[in-house]
Amino acid sequence: MIMSDGASIHPLFLVMALCGVAGGLYTLAQSSPELLPFICAASLLLLGLRLMYLAREEDREKSPETVLRFDALRELDLTRYSDWLKENVRGHDDAIDLIVRKIQQSLRLAAPNRTLGSFLLVGPTGTGKTFLSELMSKALYPDSEPVILRMNQYKDHNDVFTLIGPPPGQPGYEVGGALTRPVLDNPYRVILLDELEKAHIDVQHCLYDVLDAARCREKSSGKTVHFGACAIFATCNAGVSSLRQIYEQTNDPSARTGRAREALTREAGFDRALLARFDEIVLLDELKPLYVAEVALLQLAKYWRQYGIEVAYAAPELLLEAMRKNAEFKEYGVRQLARFIQQLTDPGIEEARRHGASRVRLDIDAAGRITIA
Ligand SMILES: Nc1ncnc2c1ncn2[C@@H]1O[C@H](COP(=O)(O)OP(=O)(O)O)[C@@H](O)[C@H]1O
Ligand SMILES: [Mg+2]
Repeated sequence: MIMSDGASIHPLFLVMALCGVAGGLYTLAQSSPELLPFICAASLLLLGLRLMYLAREEDREKSPETVLRFDALRELDLTRYSDWLKENVRGHDDAIDLIVRKIQQSLRLAAPNRTLGSFLLVGPTGTGKTFLSELMSKALYPDSEPVILRMNQYKDHNDVFTLIGPPPGQPGYEVGGALTRPVLDNPYRVILLDELEKAHIDVQHCLYDVLDAARCREKSSGKTVHFGACAIFATCNAGVSSLRQIYEQTNDPSARTGRAREALTREAGFDRALLARFDEIVLLDELKPLYVAEVALLQLAKYWRQYGIEVAYAAPELLLEAMRKNAEFKEYGVRQLARFIQQLTDPGIEEARRHGASRVRLDIDAAGRITIA
């Protein structure tokens, strides 16, 4: 059966239609045996057409456009983005180098049936795990939105169907899976599985093929989804202190990985087999005070820029205050900083706008008030 591009027929209808046709042909063959050769020829013709359709599908997967795009991708020099990544995600230079090196190597090798890299980022909340994955997406695929899945919404075993689509006929099957459909539509994407440890174990199992062979089957459409041009990031908040200890105690990469897998199986409840499928387990540990100050500065500049004002200088006392506040809210990482800076400098923004300033220096006077120059 030939279908136009993109059109899909519900498999149940297909089976019913085929049964109907087969039944009709059978009755016809019974009543008029002389038609038997024609019936056989017609069946063979239908079979041939079906095979041609399947071959065309296969070709489309390797269409010249897809091949060209992957060739262009292989030319990408991701190391050009290393400095930009390190300037924006502070305090994780080694992790950034490791990830960039791995993805660059995958681009050069263009290994079939492998993703560009799969990374489990482990660290306390608010250390930049999600942020780093988002920026990697900007560097790798500036024109494609990353697929961000909050895995704490996949706590039930039925959520497998949200991920790879419900079986045909079930509600929502035409929408496809939250993981599979965006990649079917555009395979050049970064995938972020946020807080993966919170997902149901069946949902985790579902990811085996993706991590192993860079493919999986969308349940609702039956189509194979290819993840060969995807970089996969998963994040995890649990098991941090054990990992920190392990990474301090040993430098040998394979011993580190082995022990890290054990610790995360024990403390984050992961299946060891799932952990073995990640290319790297990366620790993004708590930020040192200096980096907290830098993040505060970044957030300050970002916040003011929203109002069209450049911060040319910020008094060190302001940053110290931000660091002090961050220590108070340590359990949130640097997440509270943005809100704190907002509250601290909102009056300043009002004043700067009143004066029509587009560039300011933020100082602190003797009474601890922010002054603007
Ligand atoms: N290392 C960092 N460098 C720069 N900004 C950071 C860093 N860590 C966190 N941030 C800021 O804090 C916000 C929250 O961080 P996020 O990446 O969501 O943390 P998590 O590790 O919990 O995923 C980010 O959007 C970013 O603005
Ligand atoms: Mg996060």
